[in-house]
Amino acid sequence: MDTTRTLGRSGIEVSAVGFGCWAIGGEWQDPGGQPLGWGTVDDQESVRAIRRALDLGVTFFDTADVYGTGHSEEVLGRALGRRRDEVVVATKWGNLFDPDTRTLTGGDDSPEHLRRALTASLRRLGTEYIDLYQLHLADADMGRAARLRDACEDLVTQGLIRSYAWSTDDPERAAVFAKGPHCTAVQHALNVLADAPEMLRLCEEAGLASVNRSPLAMGLLTGKHAGRGTLPEGDIRSRPPAWLRGFGAGSGADPEWLARVEALRDVLTSEGRTLAQGALAWLWARSPRTVPIPGFRSVAQAEENAGALEKGALTGEQMTEVERVLAPG
Ligand SMILES: NC(=O)c1ccc[n+]([C@@H]2O[C@H](COP(=O)([O-])OP(=O)(O)OC[C@H]3O[C@@H](n4cnc5c(N)ncnc54)[C@H](OP(=O)(O)O)[C@@H]3O)[C@@H](O)[C@H]2O)c1
Repeated sequence: MDTTRTLGRSGIEVSAVGFGCWAIGGEWQDPGGQPLGWGTVDDQESVRAIRRALDLGVTFFDTADVYGTGHSEEVLGRALGRRRDEVVVATKWGNLFDPDTRTLTGGDDSPEHLRRALTASLRRLGTEYIDLYQLHLADADMGRAARLRDACEDLVTQGLIRSYAWSTDDPERAAVFAKGPHCTAVQHALNVLADAPEMLRLCEEAGLASVNRSPLAMGLLTGKHAGRGTLPEGDIRSRPPAWLRGFGAGSGADPEWLARVEALRDVLTSEGRTLAQGALAWLWARSPRTVPIPGFRSVAQAEENAGALEKGALTGEQMTEVERVLAPG
């Protein structure tokens, strides 16, 4: 398999796996105390993991201003250092937050906020431009989003961003952004347990990359969340909000999801792959437009996820076997 992919119609080349930087932001919460991070993290280990990924050929990193209320962008910027121009940096805007209390405080879909947020992200990341700038408000009003799309075109003209996208699971919303010439992707949930055929159809028709969040089903597809109560307080999966699928409140992983992971184990671990590598291999086989962005929190995870590149995509036969295993009944 070619270990690189192109971001939609932009011509921007990225490694076929990107690294998702949500978890490395550390703990943060909503105003009601609901955890929105993945528990505590060791920044030194995050920096080592990013540098190891760079050495293994990873050239795409996805973060957001709100992850750890700015901390994820700072850690990524520090880890990249002088190698920043070797990579493609994606970040997101739209949320409001208070770094002092590490709390999400709301959202703002105005063009004025877009400019303010971009200035702050550039500072935290220590860079002069963002390669892929993404609207983080998944359900924003479509009319207001069209204004943001046009404002993003201005930012491209000014050289502050190279391309932009909407992070949303709604193909109708993604299509609004796709009308802009420099919209190059949609970021959406996709993994072997949760397919998104309509969004992939849009990507095909509009020439967008499909940047895949939750490619490991938030860790379920690594096979390690078999036990109950293994998740520490402060980890969003220990008290999952309504939109988070696959984890039950206080109980760890949902048994029905775990059963499906177990049923897929043989085919996903074919040809010496680990389960996580098999989950990424499914995504590459699903469409030539996909770019999975698995999260990570250690050098070991970075090595395993980057190591998926050399094992490549599942074969047609293996994809058929996945379909057979997941078929209802
Ligand atoms: N609205 C949005 O725009 C949005 C929403 C969600 C995610 N995202 C982006 O997508 C990225 C990835 O999605 P995600 O964070 O939802 O989940 P994911 O990639 O499906 O799962 C990542 C988690 O799985 C575990 N893991 C990763 N590699 C592993 C390995 N090799 N072995 C064992 N465990 C491993 C780690 O957590 P543990 O070690 O704690 O289990 C890691 O944090 C995020 O980082 C973020 O950049 C964007």
